[in-house]
Amino acid sequence: MADASFTLDPAYQVGTVDPRLYGSFVEHLGRCVYEGIYEPGHPTAGADGFRTDVLELVRELGVTTVRYPGGNFVSNYRWEDGIGPVADRPRRLDLAWHSTEPNTVGTDEFVAWCRAASVEPLWTVNLGSRGMQAAQDLLEYCNHPGGSEWSDRRIACGATEPYGIRLWCLGNEMDGDWQVGHKTATEYGRLAAETAKAMRLVDPNVELIACGSSHDGMDTFASWDAEVLEHTYDQVDHLSLHAYYAPRDGDVDSYLASAVGMDRQIEAIAATCDHVRARRKSAKTITLSFDEWNAWYSENPADAGDPGEGYPVAPHLLENVYSAMDAVVVGSLLNSLLRHADRVRIACLAQLVNVIAPIMTRAGGPAWRQTIFHPFALASRYGRGTALRVEPTAPVVHTDRYGPVPALDVAATRGDGGEVAVFAVNRHRYEPLTVTADVRTGGAATVVEHRVLHEDDPYAVNTADEPERVVPRTGAGAVLADGRLRVTLPPLSWSMLRLAPGTP
Ligand code: AHR
Repeated sequence: MADASFTLDPAYQVGTVDPRLYGSFVEHLGRCVYEGIYEPGHPTAGADGFRTDVLELVRELGVTTVRYPGGNFVSNYRWEDGIGPVADRPRRLDLAWHSTEPNTVGTDEFVAWCRAASVEPLWTVNLGSRGMQAAQDLLEYCNHPGGSEWSDRRIACGATEPYGIRLWCLGNEMDGDWQVGHKTATEYGRLAAETAKAMRLVDPNVELIACGSSHDGMDTFASWDAEVLEHTYDQVDHLSLHAYYAPRDGDVDSYLASAVGMDRQIEAIAATCDHVRARRKSAKTITLSFDEWNAWYSENPADAGDPGEGYPVAPHLLENVYSAMDAVVVGSLLNSLLRHADRVRIACLAQLVNVIAPIMTRAGGPAWRQTIFHPFALASRYGRGTALRVEPTAPVVHTDRYGPVPALDVAATRGDGGEVAVFAVNRHRYEPLTVTADVRTGGAATVVEHRVLHEDDPYAVNTADEPERVVPRTGAGAVLADGRLRVTLPPLSWSMLRLAPGTP
């Protein structure tokens, strides 16, 4: 059995955890909206057509912010199609996912759903097939009090008070040639800057996110980001990052080290932002919005996003079934976000329901938690307050993709009352890891909760018929004595330990 150690000291801080780190994403894609959050006629559906069983799971998941309506979908979306009487709304071809969009759910419905779910929307505007004017009109519709064409249209639709939507993405993955209306960095940078200026004139309170690189394998990775920032630096608040992880060509050890990839991507893009800041002699720091991240087995034909022939409504797309191993990886990716809490202000687990999602539904049937639901829900509930700087000493696992990586992936947070949450992943596939943590300076005295997600079969999954097959179980054997926490992590596992101050 190998040994690892680290020290937790409340003086060593990364920064305050922005609650928006626990965001997610609802795209008009596959069955995320239709048969996902919305299914009139379902036994649990309210009068508005939203499934209340799904709403309950969304609340339990602890999602704070939800990005909408895309994704690739937004780049050929006309937002005006989704307002007014539903019977009058057009059916449109969605070119991104080769589907038909019925427009039954649009802006007003999604705002109502966000309120029911107690989440803040993060709205994306179409800078692919459309541009400044459509973005400005949409913002006027949502946030202007009244007395203008679009705000009065909102009032006529029943919303007398403005929606006050604060967070806005200026397009989606505009560097990708798969995107409708794909642009060069210069074309996009100019358009994003001018759109941002117009949007701030409509509502000076908006927070704006420019599109960074779609992933770190893009040929233009980092140079796209630098060029876009040259145009938008003074106009935007955040730059976006996206990343999806899978065991490419069966390389499981590298997959288990995905958080190293996320760490490096965040640090590379933060450095790129700071390079532009230095060049421009600016006092402003651009922060990061990791607004799409997850495990996604896009090499599997069934998960790749091809709806086949025709333009179906709500086809089964990207319905990735997650294993215990995927949950461990998702747990470690959350650790990476916490380690960079000083720079990453927003992050969205992509997506929320049915499409590469923590929540699955069957039409007319149950909703259930995928394996990845669990580390997210526990991290969102307890990974709040201040992220602590943790520097573990650990044995090494060799990976083809990232080289040697520590077997222990760990992050920790401290709440105002001195309670500490430790999130620890043993990346080793076969060896348990004994961890000793020096917690003397924080005053931690008792272990109040110890949960472990580990399965002897790392490919075990949750299904409609067996929804509780993979869950975090109560851990055993954690000892906190004389300011030292000692615990053994099973191989390929994610654990959470909550420590409370006081008398042991
Ligand atoms: O989340 C699925 C898709 O992945 C999104 O639509 C797109 O932005 C990304 O490429």
